[in-house]
Amino acid sequence: MDKVSVLFVCLGNICRSPTAHGVFLHLLNCDGLDQCIRVDSAGTGDWHVGRPPDRRAAQAALNRGYDLRDLRARQVSTVDFTEFDYILAMDRNNLQDLQRLCPVGYRGYLGLLLEYGSKCGQTEVPDPYSGGESGFELVLDLVEDACTGLLRELSTSKASKRNF
Ligand code: 4NP
Repeated sequence: MDKVSVLFVCLGNICRSPTAHGVFLHLLNCDGLDQCIRVDSAGTGDWHVGRPPDRRAAQAALNRGYDLRDLRARQVSTVDFTEFDYILAMDRNNLQDLQRLCPVGYRGYLGLLLEYGSKCGQTEVPDPYSGGESGFELVLDLVEDACTGLLRELSTSKASKRNF
């Protein structure tokens, strides 16, 4: 069976999307699904390309058992639309940037990560970059919840390329 692939996207790829990347990979490893589902992350901007995650994001994640230290920022590109079945943005600005980049005929799903969350009314993962520590905890709370929902969806109905 071909792997289903998921790309998480934010602005800088140093706070929110690497957090989602690390959390989702952890869930996959716990469930023995890392061979079935491929995960990556990227940013719509290029300012931080090649850099590790923001120190505050990495520390907050590590405090909950997610190791982001090997991740490096990269910028999303049109090639990603040929490689990823799900491209999930952290906020609407990211989603609009992705929609502009999205080739006509993309057969995967482009949407918001929090569509898979259980927290009613919260549709975006707020950008924590310019705020305090609590912003990074909120990112983790929202991302953990939505990644759990995403994995449930993929493992019940879509963990097969037959759907694409
Ligand atoms: P992210 O956060 O999109 O969650 O990685 C940001 C990181 C850097 C910047 C903005 C947001 N920045 O302006 O450099």
